[in-house]
Amino acid sequence: PKQAEEILRSPICCIMGHVDAGKTKLLDFVRGTNVQEGEAGFITQQIGATYFPAENIRERTKELKADAKLKVPGLLVIDTSSHESFTNLRSRGSGLCDIAILVVDIMEGLKPQTIESLNLLKMRNTKFIVVLNKVDRLYGWKMCRNAPIVKALKQQSKDVQNQFNMKLIQIITQFKEQGFNTELYYKNKEMGEIFSIVPTSAVSGEGIPDLLLLLVQWTQKTMVEKLTFSNEVQVCFVLLSCLGTYLHHKEIKAAQGIKITAQGLEHAIAGTGLYVVGPDDDVEDVKEAAMED
Ligand code: GTP
Ligand code: NA
Ligand code: MG
Repeated sequence: PKQAEEILRSPICCIMGHVDAGKTKLLDFVRGTNVQEGEAGFITQQIGATYFPAENIRERTKELKADAKLKVPGLLVIDTSSHESFTNLRSRGSGLCDIAILVVDIMEGLKPQTIESLNLLKMRNTKFIVVLNKVDRLYGWKMCRNAPIVKALKQQSKDVQNQFNMKLIQIITQFKEQGFNTELYYKNKEMGEIFSIVPTSAVSGEGIPDLLLLLVQWTQKTMVEKLTFSNEVQVCFVLLSCLGTYLHHKEIKAAQGIKITAQGLEHAIAGTGLYVVGPDDDVEDVKEAAMED
């Protein structure tokens, strides 16, 4: 069993949802960066990938006192754009992932791109966690920076708690209309059948520890087999939105963010496949397949 644990690769997590639900802002909050404010018109134009090492996640989930069992080396999170013209990229991104985060603005509920995302996830049978973002926009919300969500909700007035419950019930009903059962994660006793909801704020960080912990726990528990390395190469061009220090890899294991250096890369289209030419492959055939992609 020890060995099996050691070869777990990092889960790939895709972050999806309607325009302006806060996908990039959430990632910014976790990374401590400011990508979202630098975006043209605040619209994400590319798929971006960020690697969160386990050590980082452990630190961020301390307060939940459930950190002991991190088995995965980390989490690779892929940001998608909800802009109309990126349907193909979204479909690509969602196809790569082990798990998804579906971000819903608590003030807005389900919107057209939320439903489009839901359909993609359903089609590929990808499990997801619902993030109910922007809880800080509930009228009268008292900020509790980085607090686990139960703790943060307890600090709120009766009125804010009522607003929260009303929105929650509406959104659970909207999911039901789309054929999905959802429930607050800490009340969800049937994970897998019922999709978990994590309320968050990407501005003040309430619920972020819960989200990180849930992602890791769930992927480890349900995907041990899937997370074991395979020799199959499945790579997708992604643009690293967070250019930290690069590690040089002589050999890569799946689900690492890697930097590829090559001539003419500026012509590569984000989201298309990367083809590997083996000794028995005909270069022309591979070229043809790549062009059809
Ligand atoms: P696209 O990539 O364009 O689809 O949008 P997105 O889902 O990445 O949303 P983005 O992160 O660009 O956030 C949209 C707007 O909502 C920005 O003005 C953010 O500052 C704001 N926002 C995001 N999350 C929160 C939140 O939790 N609370 C509040 N108050 N504002 C938020
Ligand atoms: Na945006
Ligand atoms: Mg974005």
